[in-house]
Amino acid sequence: MANLQSIMDHAVAVARKAGEVVREALSDDRKVMMKSSAVDLVTQTDQKVEQLIIQSVKEKFPSHRFIGEESVAAGEACVLTDDPTWIIDPIDGTTNFVHAFPFVAISIGFAMNKQVEVGVVYSCLEDKMFTARRGKGAFCNGEPLAVSDQTDIQQSIISTEFGANRDPEAVDKIFCSLRNILSLPVHGVRGAGTAAINMCLVASGCVEGYYEIGVHVWDIAAGSLVVSEAGGVLMDVDGGELDLMSRRIIAANNRSIAERLVKEITPFRPPRDDSP
Ligand code: IPD
Repeated sequence: MANLQSIMDHAVAVARKAGEVVREALSDDRKVMMKSSAVDLVTQTDQKVEQLIIQSVKEKFPSHRFIGEESVAAGEACVLTDDPTWIIDPIDGTTNFVHAFPFVAISIGFAMNKQVEVGVVYSCLEDKMFTARRGKGAFCNGEPLAVSDQTDIQQSIISTEFGANRDPEAVDKIFCSLRNILSLPVHGVRGAGTAAINMCLVASGCVEGYYEIGVHVWDIAAGSLVVSEAGGVLMDVDGGELDLMSRRIIAANNRSIAERLVKEITPFRPPRDDSP
């Protein structure tokens, strides 16, 4: 049985170290490469930070498995088994990082039996360390987090992202959802440029709901636990149970906001993260 406290401690320590590397790299030249498309970006820092995290975890927990954004991009399988698995996004908000837009996170989730047990999101330019352990609450720099108690979507801020999908049909659906939600009307729509930080904003109580179609498991694994441990709810964009591999998520302060979002979102299904 893995010792979850030592896993949490290690995740926090390595996220902090990774954050230092990211902050230093911000003042250097950032060589940008493309992944699946011209707007799906990666830098040498993403790759370096992922290696740093994986090496450090391997030394301490040699039998554990990994799902890492850049390892998957390099051809490794993206399969969540029952085994202890670290789910890593070395830089969530790579586009922000490339442009020095000041929201960038290191996201580290740890799952067993396909359930996230530990979530660490380090918003490294703000120096905010978000942590959660299943059943033990969510914290930011050690202070407990709680979601907003707002139940009226018209009094809410909703966050979302456009992602990297530029397929015209998908873009139309994304805009259709956005138009529906804006014209409810809601108080505002925001987007931090990182799924993990959007979810931490829900956990912190300043955003009522976040939704996105097109995210990946490494963007949401850690943040999903931060939201649920802060008292929030998670679901699929069609109202079903959240499936971490489905690339679709609603993370909200409560069920009534989440279910209202379901009514307004025009769903579509990107290829799953674990599709062969
Ligand atoms: C991306 C960010 C972005 C979201 C994308 C993600 P990355 O992660 O979280 O906000 O819209 O869906 O893939 O590529 O910067 O790690």
